[in-house]
Amino acid sequence: MTRRIIHSSRVLITGASSGIGRALAIELARQGARLVLNARRLDRLQAVADESQTAGGQVALAVGDVTRADDRAAALAAAERRFGGLDVLVNNAGVSAWGRFEQAAPERLRQIMEVNFFALAEMTRAALPLLARGQNPLVVNIASILGHRGIPLQSEYCASKFAVRGFSEALRAELAKQHIDLLVVSPGSTESEFFDHLIEKAGEMPWRTQPKTPAAVVAQKIVRAIELGRHEIVPSRRGKLLVWLNRLAPRLVDRWMERYG
Ligand SMILES: NC(=O)c1ccc[n+]([C@@H]2O[C@H](COP(=O)([O-])OP(=O)(O)OC[C@H]3O[C@@H](n4cnc5c(N)ncnc54)[C@H](OP(=O)(O)O)[C@@H]3O)[C@@H](O)[C@H]2O)c1
Repeated sequence: MTRRIIHSSRVLITGASSGIGRALAIELARQGARLVLNARRLDRLQAVADESQTAGGQVALAVGDVTRADDRAAALAAAERRFGGLDVLVNNAGVSAWGRFEQAAPERLRQIMEVNFFALAEMTRAALPLLARGQNPLVVNIASILGHRGIPLQSEYCASKFAVRGFSEALRAELAKQHIDLLVVSPGSTESEFFDHLIEKAGEMPWRTQPKTPAAVVAQKIVRAIELGRHEIVPSRRGKLLVWLNRLAPRLVDRWMERYG
């Protein structure tokens, strides 16, 4: 049964200039959502805004860095100013790095946690008063299958996504009485610019490139989950397989991963 109507919903998406955030903006716009789009690259954000408007959405831009409190506040203020409030917050902005933990500088861990975890948590904190006055309010946190299973050479990223899942599970219970829902999305390998923007790339990944799910398919599944009031989705078959295999036979997956460590 459809629980949430996308049409006219006021949705703030962080990291909307490419990949999953961009695809989600366009998919929501097709259904008549009102969007506030955040990211740092104005030219790319403007292009997504143009596509979203053509698809049927209304758009306000909030150019900025999610790790900056002022920029987070400005994005929320844009939702209030342009659309009179906020119904859905999508914490999507994310970064990663490749390489062995012991060889990385401490800044790599700090930087990844700042974007993937602290900014997501603080954006949520700042948005809650606005969401509490919204229609059928919802927080959507984009985690990863690497928040279900750690893999070598992405230790900082895995830590940040495990943190997102733990935070989300706890917060969902806290928000239930206020009728604010929380959806966690754990994508598997997805077609996007993610791997072009690694903050550090120390060597090549030791495994073969995995087939990737188109960002548009992930976006469609997220929109469906928003409509249905789901709590958690893994929007790819291979991702689901890894999550289940790890749950059923964790030692087997440990041994598989150790080959690449
Ligand atoms: N691609 C995958 O295989 C995969 C798998 C699982 C989970 N995910 C997750 O999906 C989410 C989206 O990633 P994607 O695959 O779509 O990658 P992407 O194409 O690189 O998109 C990342 C987005 O985040 C924005 N961003 C990065 N740092 C930011 C900051 N400090 N402030 C504001 N925006 C920032 C980028 O925009 P600007 O550079 O313009 O700021 C961009 O719009 C991430 O949370 C990622 O961890 C991706």
